[in-house]
Formats: sequence, C-alpha cells, structure tokens
Amino acid sequence: MAIAWTAELELGIPVIDSQHQRIVDYINTVSDAHKSHRTNDVFSVLDELVDYTLSHFAFEESLMEESGYPFLNAHKKVHRLFARRVASFQQRAKAGDDITEELLHVLKAWLVNHIKCDDRDYSAVVKANMIEATRRTKAKQGSWFNRLFG
Ligand SMILES: [Fe+2]
Repeated sequence: MAIAWTAELELGIPVIDSQHQRIVDYINTVSDAHKSHRTNDVFSVLDELVDYTLSHFAFEESLMEESGYPFLNAHKKVHRLFARRVASFQQRAKAGDDITEELLHVLKAWLVNHIKCDDRDYSAVVKANMIEATRRTKAKQGSWFNRLFG
C-alpha cells in the first residue's frame, strides 16, 4: 500500500512539506519497485531515500535550533535513533537478507507517525520564527529603500 499524501501530513511550512512529500514519493517508488521485482531499483532508490532523509533531518534541526525550539535535543535523538535503525537494515541487506518488506513497513509507519506527532510539535514555533524573520528582512529592506528614495 502506497502512502497517500493527506492534509494530516501537512505542517503548513511549505519548505518542510515539500521535503516530506518527496520522502513519501521515494517510499512509494521503493514500494512499486519491490512489487514489480525490480531489485536494482529498490536498492538504488532506498539509498537515495536514506541520503535525502538524513539531509532533511539536518535541515529540520537547523530550523528548530534557529527558532529556539525547546525540545530540539529530544527531536535530534529521535532522528539519530531512526538513522541507526535504517543503517542496521542496510547492513542486513548487504549481508544478503531480504529486508525490503520489513523496511518499507517501518519507513511508512515511522514517517507518518513522526510527521503527525514529533514534527507537528515544532511547527508552531518554527512557523512563528520564519514569519518574524521575514518581517525583519522586509523592515530592513523598507528602511533601506526609504533612506534612498523616501
Ligand atoms: Fe523530524
């Protein structure tokens, strides 16, 4: 079963939502490749998915840090545990285990739950900080413009 992108997965932070959407696309692509027995595709897309997800985590963490989100360390820990779990799947796969189905199950369940709970938890703080940063930039541009042309 593919993951459907629903409003429940949306945080209202466009840059994060599009990254989450891309992760969902990757998972669905792995799922399709697995169903149609394209083993090479399964492994190449899985590698891309893992790379992309890890850089997405780093990006999320930088946003949380910038906005002073109080549970940054706990969230980082959740990301790290997940990365470790995926790494152990990759090791098993290298050793010849057929882990695809189990991994897909874990990926789907974990991602949906993580977005709905953990990520939703930071969304208000991060959103407020982004709005404030935009406001400050605009104010700066405004005063610069006024000085020159006002
Ligand atoms: Fe996260």
